[in-house]
Amino acid sequence: MLQRIEETAAYLRSKMTTQPETAIILGTGLGSLVHEITEKYEIPYAEIPNFPVSTVEGHSGKLIFGKLGNKDIVAMQGRFHFYEGYNMKEVTFPVRVMRELGIKTLFVSNAAGGTNPAFEIGDLMIISDHINQFPEHPLRGKNIEYGPRFPDMSEAYSKELIAKAENIAKELGIKLQKGVYLGTQGPTFETPAEYKLFHIMGADAVGMSTVPEVIVANHCGIKVFGVSVITDLGVEGKIVEVSHEEVQKAADEAQPRMTAIMRELINRS
Ligand code: HPA
Repeated sequence: MLQRIEETAAYLRSKMTTQPETAIILGTGLGSLVHEITEKYEIPYAEIPNFPVSTVEGHSGKLIFGKLGNKDIVAMQGRFHFYEGYNMKEVTFPVRVMRELGIKTLFVSNAAGGTNPAFEIGDLMIISDHINQFPEHPLRGKNIEYGPRFPDMSEAYSKELIAKAENIAKELGIKLQKGVYLGTQGPTFETPAEYKLFHIMGADAVGMSTVPEVIVANHCGIKVFGVSVITDLGVEGKIVEVSHEEVQKAADEAQPRMTAIMRELINRS
């Protein structure tokens, strides 16, 4: 495993002309951030040794290097989901490669169903914490000495970055929610009983990504900031049929707000 990570990092280093310490996983709601990256150079996943290849339609799958504001960044366009059939080591492989490349901070976004009755469709939710409901743990197996066998998770999402994001949202007049994201395997959306259970468990939103990458980032000592766009509501009395298209539509509508906060936060962090 370590050898594969090092091999991939060595390949990327041979192509890299910048030394970013900031990485972004361009999940749902953040795709348009790509247009703000300057001095861009790109490496398709298909050309990167040991990298899984993205299968979801509309995701071309590449690493994009460049500048966001004054900051050197690397962005992942296309992420790997457990429901696509990748195992957890594959889902989180890029994060370990990032650690090897010297990344110190990771920004992530996703789409999620709101289970908190105070939420509305289109809300942005800063992820304050998560609940891991994936059936396989990304750190199961021999420990890679990027971190301890039993990693602390008491601040999986950087409190400092959360505070900065809240200030930025206030300045920009953008409404923000804050809450706990529960990550589950999908690909089904939840039944009403499951949404209710997850809310009772302490979740404010539920989605099918992010948690594996965040666990591995924490193990590697990478700071994390995450935002969910609430694309549907798993709240009793408000539950309606959910489709991928509706999720996409709500995410597209929220995209300018999500992008504004992330752009500013990355610039200031
Ligand atoms: N459940 C799980 N994943 C999701 C949802 C949801 O309601 N909405 C967007 N992604």
